[in-house]
Amino acid sequence: MISVRDLHKTYRHGGADVHALRGVGLDVGAGQVVALTGRSGAGKSTLLNVVAGLLRPEQGSVEVDGLELTTARDAELVALRRDTVGVIYQEFALLPLLTAEENVGLPMRIRRQDTRKRDEAVAELLDRVGLTAHARQRPEEMSGGQQQRVAIARALVNRPRVLLADEPTGQLDSETGAQVMELLRQLVEQEGTTAVVATHDPSVADFADAVVHLDDGRVVSPAVGASGDGYRGTHAGEQTDGDPADDLQHDVGAGGPDGRDQPGAGVPRHRRT
Ligand SMILES: Nc1ncnc2c1ncn2[C@@H]1O[C@H](COP(=O)(O)OP(=O)(O)OP(=O)(O)O)[C@@H](O)[C@H]1O
Ligand SMILES: [Mg+2]
Repeated sequence: MISVRDLHKTYRHGGADVHALRGVGLDVGAGQVVALTGRSGAGKSTLLNVVAGLLRPEQGSVEVDGLELTTARDAELVALRRDTVGVIYQEFALLPLLTAEENVGLPMRIRRQDTRKRDEAVAELLDRVGLTAHARQRPEEMSGGQQQRVAIARALVNRPRVLLADEPTGQLDSETGAQVMELLRQLVEQEGTTAVVATHDPSVADFADAVVHLDDGRVVSPAVGASGDGYRGTHAGEQTDGDPADDLQHDVGAGGPDGRDQPGAGVPRHRRT
């Protein structure tokens, strides 16, 4: 569903080059949920923005749902963001003058979908995120956790095949963050959505099929056991400094890059009852 190869992205900033991504490879199969970890500045947002079709890299290839983004026309990227990809940001990014239900319905309005269909879909999603009673409230009249649930509903209302979330719990206290993450997990599982969730929060590994750890613009091995009760991801990557012949591509579902099994390799998605 998502296939990234040898991705390089450099920002030019005040005459200096910032190499945000230095040969990243990543494969996310349909329906998989991948947690993207790494400290501040590691390149997580940059990678998500490239996969969302918002940033063009200078080298490498990025395929999302069959579309090669690096050679796609602008109109194709617009269509990708409208029809295929849903995005959730740390700061919610809701429109302040719109109510919860209007914010959730916005992507369907943009697609000019039938009003009745839209109202039904919005009501159903607000119910699923537990906000039916708050449908007429504006963002400033809601708590952070409620606003993020609105943003989740908005990201899912067009039933995107791919969901990209950038620190979706970053502005929430840990308990609210855990609730929001659990909700997100349930929704993507029910819908079979492919998801990449960038986070600083090691417990998010519990929510994912696999953890991919970025350091300084490269994929490195995951921190085993970082979540406290055992690493449940399948596998991430390895450090491959220098040698361009090194295979930087990692299939997160296919065991270790060196052929050895990783802890938890191949285990099915963690499910709670
Ligand atoms: N628009 C920009 N112009 C110049 N440099 C940038 C820009 N955006 C990001 N960078 C730099 O690129 C590198 C990667 O940034 P990125 O935002 O992808 O990291 P991140 O992993 O998302 O960090 P955080 O956890 O703090 O959100 C950093 O060194 C950052 O300073
Ligand atoms: Mg970021």
